[in-house]
Amino acid sequence: MAFIVKKKIGEKEYFYLNENKRVEGKVKTKTIAYLGKDKKEAEEKAKKILSGKIEDKSEKKIIGEKNMEKENQEKISIEEMAVFCKRKGFVFQSGEIYGGLAGFWDFGPMGVELKNNIKKEWWKYHVYQRGDIVGIDGSIVTHPKVWKASGHIDSFSDVFVVCKKCKKASKIDRAELGKVKCDFCGGDFDEKTAKDFNLMFKIQVGENGESYLRPETAQLIFADFKLVQESSRMKLPFGIAQSGKAFRNEIAPRDFIFRNREFEQMEIEYFIKPDSGCPYEIPDEEILIYSAEMQEEKTNPKIMKIKDALKKGIIKKDWHAYWLAIQFEWFKSLGANPNNFRIRQHRKDELAHYSSDCWDLEYNFPFGWKELEGIADRKDYDLSQHEKFSGKDLRIFDEETKEKILPHVVCEPSIGVERSFLVFMFDAYTYDKKRENVVLKLNPKLSPIKASIFPIVKKEEFEKIAKNIFKHLSSEWKINYDESGSIGRRYARNDEAGTPYCITIDEESIKNDEVTIRDRDTTKQIRVKISGIKETMRKLLDGDIEFENAGKFVN
Ligand code: GAP
Repeated sequence: MAFIVKKKIGEKEYFYLNENKRVEGKVKTKTIAYLGKDKKEAEEKAKKILSGKIEDKSEKKIIGEKNMEKENQEKISIEEMAVFCKRKGFVFQSGEIYGGLAGFWDFGPMGVELKNNIKKEWWKYHVYQRGDIVGIDGSIVTHPKVWKASGHIDSFSDVFVVCKKCKKASKIDRAELGKVKCDFCGGDFDEKTAKDFNLMFKIQVGENGESYLRPETAQLIFADFKLVQESSRMKLPFGIAQSGKAFRNEIAPRDFIFRNREFEQMEIEYFIKPDSGCPYEIPDEEILIYSAEMQEEKTNPKIMKIKDALKKGIIKKDWHAYWLAIQFEWFKSLGANPNNFRIRQHRKDELAHYSSDCWDLEYNFPFGWKELEGIADRKDYDLSQHEKFSGKDLRIFDEETKEKILPHVVCEPSIGVERSFLVFMFDAYTYDKKRENVVLKLNPKLSPIKASIFPIVKKEEFEKIAKNIFKHLSSEWKINYDESGSIGRRYARNDEAGTPYCITIDEESIKNDEVTIRDRDTTKQIRVKISGIKETMRKLLDGDIEFENAGKFVN
């Protein structure tokens, strides 16, 4: 029996055609088609599908669960990703039982693990593995003068405008007024409604005080600059990193977790002696490059080595080339598909007044190329502003010249955690036709669950070994214990959650203390000794050993 269901994601509604089927005596529901966002159109489409009238291949694409049959080269849509994330416990609309609140999301049991792993890997790569960057964790509610000095109180605003037709609010640039149409319905904007709208959330502090939720983590780094430099005895060039929550009262939050009102950033302010060059080797990375000139002359972006772009003067500063390559390498090292990335320079009309140059690392999202990370040259704008507003001397002593200098921020790599989350999810998402399920090929370092332990049958002797292994591995990693359903079902569940390894306890385990480990991506299996399982898992998760060489190969 087939029937239409409505799913609500954020403020939008999506219609699906579901079907109930009896399998082995049990009724199972499967989504067989995505029907769109409009109820009437959904009913028409369902009729056509059920009467077998849909011949057009594009219309025949099955969305919902089956829709995931798209090969990994063809990305699923952002709405489909939201459905998947909800079903597997990655992301839920915050306050969904009350209708949700636009721009706010909760991360479920899988999502919180993935998000924490992204932040952990970012911190490891930028703070632990380099000697020149230290971290801070600044407060979310900051002294209001920080935001006066930074310019956020006076100019951190977008132009708010309401559509005459659908009455929805949008943000636009002032120069676009009268030229652009509403994104939601194509209607004209009511120019009378246009106003500057500050994006900071104002809050009450104590009885009479007032401040703001921080709209970026960066300013805390500037405000703490001198304290960090002195206490950690940092010498130029050096960086200060911070990851944490940021809040922006976005006029039109959209695209699932791409543009939110509450989100997390991972930011670095990299300080140098004014005009000093980059002492580090620029990684040998090739990427699609879209300079301001190419955009102005309407020519296509070019694939080029970042080093060559520097030599040709497309990228002006060695520091910029270095940080762009380093950031791209971070995404690549965690399994992101390099073909989905490009670097785009801000045109003059986009540059913030304090920034002399800015490049974005962009990702090809299903809704187009969008900013994933901004890497701006901020010179001494922020430190000078904080000197001016605080009256404090923020200069530091330079051993070489024996003079006090105000360092420049040559690069400010700033990434959103949620946008990185989407990148890793889109690049990992694969529908395996043979297995008939989604395989989430996340890098094991990012996988929410590192291994799932299965006793092959629900019998005490098998369960005892399985529980011991679970306990042993859980002291290091997030491990799952799964004894329900057939082994096939358990594999499928774990493939969809991105679990890289499934460990099965079978008859052989009782006889000779060995278990099988199955690799998520290849479905190959090896047998390993229980006594060495933690070491084997560690090598596999760190990528220090090939799967086939980690034990006795089974198939
Ligand atoms: N301190 C510099 C700064 O905040 P930004 O370009 O406004 O620069 C940096 O933000 C990054 O933060 C963006 O590239 C994006 O990844 C993320 N970000 C910004 N606004 C966001 C929002 N409303 N929702 C989710 N992520 C956002």
